[in-house]
Amino acid sequence: MFEVRTERPGDEAAVFTVQNAAFGQTDEARLVDAMRGSVEPAVSLVATRGDAIVGHVFVSPVTLDTEPGATDLGGLAPLGVVPDLQGRGAGGELVRAALEASQGVGFRAVFLLGSPVYYGRFGFEPAAPLGFHYQSEAFDEHFQQLELEPGALSGRAGFVRYCAAFGGGG
Ligand SMILES: CC(C)(COP(=O)(O)OP(=O)(O)OC[C@H]1O[C@@H](n2cnc3c(N)ncnc32)[C@H](O)[C@@H]1OP(=O)(O)O)[C@@H](O)C(=O)NCCC(=O)NCCS
Repeated sequence: MFEVRTERPGDEAAVFTVQNAAFGQTDEARLVDAMRGSVEPAVSLVATRGDAIVGHVFVSPVTLDTEPGATDLGGLAPLGVVPDLQGRGAGGELVRAALEASQGVGFRAVFLLGSPVYYGRFGFEPAAPLGFHYQSEAFDEHFQQLELEPGALSGRAGFVRYCAAFGGGG
């Protein structure tokens, strides 16, 4: 029902519309505009149905407070599917493709903030037991990690920092 492909020049307005509709606010759509072309490496994929873009996901580089120079860690955000087509698998296809593409650009592990019920199906697990946190321990319940390469997070720990476009949010 859906195709997933890399975002292309000319997709920007449709991606903005999709993220705005998915979240019911422009914050995430504007975040994508701020990150696009300004962070490297990055993954930006769209889900299409016919000619229409109906979903989008972005993966940006993150660092650790203990390793400000880390270049092998990604943060998946935002992920959005237009409300009319939610629950039909587009989100799942986007996440799976984003993880594969993340590996392709050199991310060895991916973090995200989201529902453990939703992301657990892709292999994400709580990050706090491994010693990784987002901003404060108040986020531990929703902060998750997935190693794309076994052992990528071994011997590491710290607070995960997203790129400046998140403005301390994310
Ligand atoms: C979250 C989102 C991207 C999922 O995309 P989707 O195409 O609807 O998801 P899929 O069709 O692949 O999967 C549907 C399943 O996810 C579940 N699901 C969707 N959103 C969920 C959420 N926020 N929490 C828990 N489960 C959720 C559905 O209940 C459904 O479960 P089932 O398979 O057991 O029936 C989409 O619902 C969305 O855009 N939501 C608004 C924006 C948002 O919250 N983004 C994620 C922020 S981390």
